Amino acid sequence: MIFDELFDFAVKATEKSYSKYSGFRVGAALLTAQGRIFTGCNIENASYSMTVCAERTAVFKAVSEGITEFSAIAVAGSSTDDFSKPCVPCGACLQVLSEFCGKDFQVILSDGVYRLSDFLPYSFSGENIK
Ligand code: THU
Repeated sequence: MIFDELFDFAVKATEKSYSKYSGFRVGAALLTAQGRIFTGCNIENASYSMTVCAERTAVFKAVSEGITEFSAIAVAGSSTDDFSKPCVPCGACLQVLSEFCGKDFQVILSDGVYRLSDFLPYSFSGENIK
């Protein structure tokens, strides 16, 4: 899978964004180790804190279907049709990704390819609760 293609899936996923409160549409495209793609969008709620980000929607869709191994995620976000500005995953999404993905997991944004560890060098993990 070419990174540009995965990013295009993320942009396409923004079309399903339910973002009537912020007007900020986010899409994510999660590439599994087997080459499948799970997309997700942000889903807002009148009780604002119940909002779920696009990245977590994609992860939860995949995990709920029994898939827990991933190689990359692309994220696109904008309040216009211009997705050229990078949309960095929030801390909550980085933490959820860190449950399943290693430091070298690739994060594809509009301006390039990053590693999970670029954004989250340290994380709380199962090791911490042993
Ligand atoms: N949002 C995401 O979907 N992913 C992120 O990583 C950051 C923020 C959403 C949540 C909310 O619906 C909107 O963007 C504005 O914060």
